[in-house]
Amino acid sequence: KKQSNQAEGGHSMYTCQKADEYIKKNRVDRADKPEFHLTTPVGWLNDPNGFSIYGGKAHLFYQFHPYSTEWGPMHWGHSSSKDFIKWEELPTALAPDSKFDSFGCFSGTAIENDGKHVLFYTGVVEEKLADGTKNVIQNQCMAVGDGISYEKISGNPVVDGKIMPEECSRADFRDPKVWKDEDGRYYMLTGNRTYDGIPQVVLFSSDDMYNWKFESVFAKDETGRFGVVWECPDYFEMDGHKLLIVSPQDMSADGEFHNGNNVVFFIGDVDEENHIFKYEKAVSVDSGFDFYAPQTIMTPDGRRVMIGWMQSWDSVNTLPRGQKWACMMSVPRELMISDGKLIQTPVRELCGYRQNKLVVNDTLRGEKTYEGINGRVIDMTVDIKKADCGHFTMHFAKDEIHETNVSYTPGTQMLEIDRTFAGWIRDTNCVRKVKIKNGNGLSKMRIVMDWNSIEIFVNDGEQVLSTVIYTPRNAQDIVFETDGCVELEVEKYDLNI
Ligand code: FRU
Repeated sequence: KKQSNQAEGGHSMYTCQKADEYIKKNRVDRADKPEFHLTTPVGWLNDPNGFSIYGGKAHLFYQFHPYSTEWGPMHWGHSSSKDFIKWEELPTALAPDSKFDSFGCFSGTAIENDGKHVLFYTGVVEEKLADGTKNVIQNQCMAVGDGISYEKISGNPVVDGKIMPEECSRADFRDPKVWKDEDGRYYMLTGNRTYDGIPQVVLFSSDDMYNWKFESVFAKDETGRFGVVWECPDYFEMDGHKLLIVSPQDMSADGEFHNGNNVVFFIGDVDEENHIFKYEKAVSVDSGFDFYAPQTIMTPDGRRVMIGWMQSWDSVNTLPRGQKWACMMSVPRELMISDGKLIQTPVRELCGYRQNKLVVNDTLRGEKTYEGINGRVIDMTVDIKKADCGHFTMHFAKDEIHETNVSYTPGTQMLEIDRTFAGWIRDTNCVRKVKIKNGNGLSKMRIVMDWNSIEIFVNDGEQVLSTVIYTPRNAQDIVFETDGCVELEVEKYDLNI
């Protein structure tokens, strides 16, 4: 489907100026959008791109199709923020208006160099092959800017897929992650697969960021466990570990991974001489329905912050009638490794928007609501002190028709989210479940809700489940329910952004 959309796009009918004029006329009212999850001024959004700190602010670009609520010829939208929560809209940064990207400006990175903001992205083009047939291929391109407007350089593409070994697919060769290493050189890691279906990431290096050479197949999976193409790689060191994040397409459910597109966090080590990453451990980043293609940055105060597309290609929803924006970003998350475990928590800046604290301590039997414990734009922690029951269920965004249920079964230590009655969902699979990794079972959930989403941070961030809901806004109730007895403490805040 993405390929056929691509074929319609491209060429200079798309420019940043045209996009911005269209946005000006068609901008969606803020009151119809999420409060603090970044979305488009109008139209479609997918992956975060160029997440970076520049000019004292966080910048976030994104895959953007302004002209409809479906994926189309890819532009780069652009926003900046002082605190990761409130975002300011900036002009469209890239449009597919050049011969080296006429079929789309796909995902990539931004870094600062000599005071400039430098973007690396995938230019998608159609190439005529020797036998006269046409093929859509991908190369890596560059643009340089000042935090507001960006100019593509004349030497594009800077990395032509031809410099890779022959077995590396040129049709799936995208999403450059670029960084300057301690050795003063630049490295670029790019998503790829081999022509016979092995997902991998390939590494290039450069002294000046304009001239690149192929280094290695940095990591790959020959077991068949981790999908068919690795998209959107990210690589960094944290808490003494070397980490590779990739977004594999088409995995089958296995332990903590779910069917379809996943995000995998590999903890491993690098053979520095040969530039080869070997993983020791693979962890699922999100066990909900909607999280894909994340990027991370290091903040000036030393935090590793990750943001993802809060959607999945497996469950792109039909939208409520008349809705003119599609898809949003996750809440940015701080990452940590503690005892070999990946820990994710919402950026601490979110706490600055908490209001109206309410605390309830109860021994729950049967079904209950608590005065003031309701709403759709909230930050709530539920401490489960004792769960003597078959199941403990919380019903969110509830009215007579709608609800999204989060249910825990202590006997099997399974946590399940069910959005069958959430509202507009095209997906026929509305349940996702995951085993709680912590041997002591579920003891705590932090639930961050915005109008169209529920993000659940389990056991202080050891596991996360992110889920989009297009539930009518007046469904505001939260119901607690069990078939046994649950001792709990609930701490709830409204979020006032
Ligand atoms: C991931 C992805 C990327 C690509 C972009 C296109 O969601 O498929 O690999 O660059 O989306 O919009």
